[in-house]
Amino acid sequence: MNQKRRILVTSALPYANGSIHLGHLLEHIQTDIWARFQRLRGHECYAVCADDAHGTPVMLKAQELGITPEQMVEQTRAEHHQDLKDFLVDYDNYYVTHSEENKVLCEAIYTKLDNAGYISKRTINQLFDPEKEMFLPDRFVTGTCPTCGSEEQNGDSCDSCGATYSPTELKNPKSVVSGAVPVLKESEHFFFDLPQFEGMLKDWLQSGAIQEEMANKLQEWFETGLQQWDISRDAPYFGFEIPGAPNKFFYVWVDAPVGYMASFLNFCQQNDLEFDDFWTEGKDTELYHFIGKDITYFHCLFWPAMLEGAGYRKPSGVNVHGFVTVNGAKMSKSKGTFIKGRTYLDHLEPEYLRYYFASKLSDGVTDIDLNFEDFVQKVNADLVGKVVNIASRCASFITKRFDGTLSDNIVDTALLNEFQQAQGSIAELFEKRKYSAAIREIMALADKANQFIDANAPWVTIKEEGKEAFTHDVCSLGIHLFRILTIYLQPVLPVLADKAQAFLNDTYTWDSIQTVLKGHGINKFKAMMQRVEPATIEKIVDASKEDLKAAQQSKAKAQADSPLVKDPIAPTISFDEFAKVDLRVAKIAHAERVEKADKLLRLELDLGGESRQVFAGIKSAYEPEDLIGKHTVMVANLAPRKMRFGLSEGMVLAAGPGGKDLFILEPHDGAQPGMKVK
Ligand code: MSP
Ligand code: ZN
Repeated sequence: MNQKRRILVTSALPYANGSIHLGHLLEHIQTDIWARFQRLRGHECYAVCADDAHGTPVMLKAQELGITPEQMVEQTRAEHHQDLKDFLVDYDNYYVTHSEENKVLCEAIYTKLDNAGYISKRTINQLFDPEKEMFLPDRFVTGTCPTCGSEEQNGDSCDSCGATYSPTELKNPKSVVSGAVPVLKESEHFFFDLPQFEGMLKDWLQSGAIQEEMANKLQEWFETGLQQWDISRDAPYFGFEIPGAPNKFFYVWVDAPVGYMASFLNFCQQNDLEFDDFWTEGKDTELYHFIGKDITYFHCLFWPAMLEGAGYRKPSGVNVHGFVTVNGAKMSKSKGTFIKGRTYLDHLEPEYLRYYFASKLSDGVTDIDLNFEDFVQKVNADLVGKVVNIASRCASFITKRFDGTLSDNIVDTALLNEFQQAQGSIAELFEKRKYSAAIREIMALADKANQFIDANAPWVTIKEEGKEAFTHDVCSLGIHLFRILTIYLQPVLPVLADKAQAFLNDTYTWDSIQTVLKGHGINKFKAMMQRVEPATIEKIVDASKEDLKAAQQSKAKAQADSPLVKDPIAPTISFDEFAKVDLRVAKIAHAERVEKADKLLRLELDLGGESRQVFAGIKSAYEPEDLIGKHTVMVANLAPRKMRFGLSEGMVLAAGPGGKDLFILEPHDGAQPGMKVK
């Protein structure tokens, strides 16, 4: 055994105003597999998490429910923790950022940063809700887009034309909270001097602390220049007051990562462990954060800078993962693919999802697709059909004919060796978070075990005279191989490993792989895993749609993504008004991405001799290359609009809820550019 490592790992802290869903679970399962693997190998590995309690959305949600934010946060924390435990995610501590430990740590860190000259104050102008008497975060303001004039746009960007702007630029702004017209109001804010950390951050990002693909992407931040970070919010705000600054609160993203420390501190106090060993520079310990790609900025810029500025150690690594999609699309409430952890658990065992995610996870940041058909297929074929099947094919003979005792002869040492020798490469794959490759290797071994059993057909030889010992050997080796497979799978499938240990009268460690249970007594085999029925998936999807209905009823303001909910049918127009719209078949002569535009593609449309440039908000659904040469339908007589990126001379028609599900119209092949659409 190598030197014993001392490791602390964290998952991002879920916000305390919503339920744990399958997207969150990808992260918690990824973290848990890694932590369990380290512990199985005999290392000292702690895993902590917590609920992220603070901020405006939590405060407003509690108001809506008519309870205090403290009450809401405690309820949600307990619910989240139970959900995670039921997915076999084993945190040493699952705490909450609204805690005394966190308050003390935040104040200490802030004071150190302030004393070191990293905090400055500046007066800024911000939209203020005069009715609610509160400043409004960007997403709590809506209004008319200053660029294209579409109504009901968000405070920071326009869904319709893709423009980004500050909420003060919106025309006819409205507070989402009260509907009142916000006014501009001055307020003094506190800023953290991020630019002072540029050199340190560049070095740290190049040190291997983060995946190379991410580190490269992050270089862009430096190119655009680091900015002062606004770390204060005015009352009313659910958070911690800034020391010496009445009615000023720490922005939630200040105290949230400190929540990692606070959760661990709370654990240390109850378990006689040295907090400093894991958080000060120069100790022989490791610290890893597992996060989703959307919050990289906070974890790879602000957080290491805060730690450095306050004299703490920086993370050994930030492990970034991609997003969960379901059946190839963003999780959607209207489709029933926005699935809560609890809804899944009402119908299926947690280990299926753990196994499926493990079989898809790598050390990269690409999105992970949960495809229902693939899920059912993989769980049934791999777990039930391959792994558990090995034991069920061999066990009954051992019990009935050989007194429940394994043979002390190994009939195929080469095969056993192969299983044992895989230990090194499988360990390396788990260590590097290449879980999908580890699973592939383990399943290739499972195939070999089944081939061995097929080839030796113990169910035939058991009936043949003089083949008793041979049959005993074959079935025993099958059990030995099953045992090794379940040790390898233990970080992913702890319950299966428990059942296997009970069946084998054994206690697994990583070193167990090199021992063989010769002449060992085992128990009667009991079924260890059931197949998944496709109908069960349908039930989960249906129940997730019901979740949506319930949510809509209880919460009038629920922002559903169902097109019908979001876009009610508009008032009728006269036929004459409609007749004015000149719809034409257009050929997409050219399509390309638009630099700095999140949603837009630039299209050159051929109207049969006439060429038009149109900016279309369909980037999320189409690769430009795939569009070139297609026929589609455009509004040809729309007045040209000047956009940030150029003139848009018309509009392409597309339908769908958004994201990947957005479809341009595609007329039949016979349609020619310029033809009128009737
Ligand atoms: N509260 C912050 C994190 C603070 S950490 C100091 C937050 N909370 S969150 O609830 O929105 O997200 C928690 C984690 O879940 C993040 O790492 C986020 O990337 C991850 N995911 C949320 N939805 C996800 C998917 N659909 N897929 C994969 N992970 C996703 O951000
Ligand atoms: Zn717009």
